[in-house]
Amino acid sequence: MGYGDDFQRLSKYGRDTLNGRSLDWAAKPPLYKKYPPNLERIELEPPEREGGAPLFSILQERRSKRRFLNRPVTLKALSQILWCCQGITLANEHHQFRAAPSAGGLFPIETYCVVNLVEGIKPGVYHYQVPYHALVLLKEGQFGPELAQAALGQAMMSTAAFNLVWSAMLGRSKWKYEQRAYRYIYLDAGHIAQNSALAAVALGLGSCQVGAFFDDEANSIIGVDGEEETAIYMTAIGPI
Ligand SMILES: Cc1cc2nc3c(=O)[nH]c(=O)nc-3n(C[C@H](O)[C@H](O)[C@H](O)COP(=O)(O)O)c2cc1C
Repeated sequence: MGYGDDFQRLSKYGRDTLNGRSLDWAAKPPLYKKYPPNLERIELEPPEREGGAPLFSILQERRSKRRFLNRPVTLKALSQILWCCQGITLANEHHQFRAAPSAGGLFPIETYCVVNLVEGIKPGVYHYQVPYHALVLLKEGQFGPELAQAALGQAMMSTAAFNLVWSAMLGRSKWKYEQRAYRYIYLDAGHIAQNSALAAVALGLGSCQVGAFFDDEANSIIGVDGEEETAIYMTAIGPI
């Protein structure tokens, strides 16, 4: 038995242990991450919300692809994939719902984009601003090779047109679910990642999910502390 087994056991819900707990609404963490307004910002064009390739065919076609052609992808394709991952699909006065489900509607996952070769934008590390469907440039440069090193030397991260790196804002989900939050956070990330894989196929691109990486190195590339916010999953996407 190890700490993974302990986690699974200790985070169980049981009829005798699940006590009703009232939520501290005043302490609810914000749903969206903000950066200083002086950072360069790219407003993405509005996504297609209808049509596209038929779902059953996409499911049949999806395979993990690890070899990419040395060609750029369009900013429109990147924009569409980001929207498929986390874009807002329904909004009312109180809530904004997204393309992928999230436990308790707390949306703890943030999306970063490590751009190697995308038409019209500089290589660099970007953060996807969900409510504005925009990218904020966090640092300019070719970080694909560094990401490949962080991903245990998986070269596809440097040959991909871009990589998505998903982090978890742990407090957002722990506010409600405490230690059980970790289960939900990983499930949330899985939904988002699958949306990215299916969207890539629909756009004629390939992708490969990546769970093997040195956590601290990945955190450093996207500029997060690994405590309040930590990288949990990635995908490499490019032309095939
Ligand atoms: C959670 C998770 C982590 C993964 N991590 C990696 C990885 O680090 N490197 C890699 O090459 N593939 C990775 N994969 C892809 C799997 O190897 C792949 O999904 C599996 O072999 C099945 O093949 P398919 O995706 O083509 O159906 C990962 C997949 C998942 C779901």
